[in-house]
Amino acid sequence: MKNTIIYPGTFDPITYGHIDIIHRAANIFEKVIIGIIESPLKTNFWFSIGERREMVELAIKDFKNVRVQTFNGLLVDFAKSLGVNLVVRGLRAITDFEYEFQMALTNKKLEDEIETIFMMTNEKYSYLSSSVVKEISKFGGDISQFVPEFVADRVFKKLQK
Ligand code: COA
Repeated sequence: MKNTIIYPGTFDPITYGHIDIIHRAANIFEKVIIGIIESPLKTNFWFSIGERREMVELAIKDFKNVRVQTFNGLLVDFAKSLGVNLVVRGLRAITDFEYEFQMALTNKKLEDEIETIFMMTNEKYSYLSSSVVKEISKFGGDISQFVPEFVADRVFKKLQK
């Protein structure tokens, strides 16, 4: 499917940094599919796949050409199952480059058709990550400038449990 791109990630939880990439990708491509990985190697999730999906869906409700799907296993298999060969990832800093470079090349090795496109993250969010959001909230800091209100509410509820 040309003009369709996959934006994969863990989204634990979605932040304004992710939303910025989604917004910009949706302006360029006809369709954006957000692929939320259910259980990657990364562990210690705060949110279940259902909770992560719900937050992403709320975040994109005003985007007409963006939809969400969950997946397990290899990204290239997910992409193949959708008939899509484009992937977008955000680059926040030079430190992201090596990891992203390795991931893009591995995906290409696994499936030559797959192309990864990188977008420079808006500098406003270049320091931001889901872990930063969780850490700030854990120590009582205000996360309202990093995530939408409905995400902040869920993070806060999680902390109360
Ligand atoms: N703004 C702010 N933060 C951003 C961001 C942006 N634009 N883009 C990424 N981040 C942050 C995320 O919040 C996340 O933070 P955290 O580590 O604190 O949780 C971090 O960067 C990592 O990003 P994420 O998008 O969650 O990616 P990931 O590195 O966990 O990779 C997949 C997710 C799905 C792409 C990857 O795990 C994958 O492809 N898995 C399938 C297995 C596979 O195919 N492997 C072969 C390829 S190596």
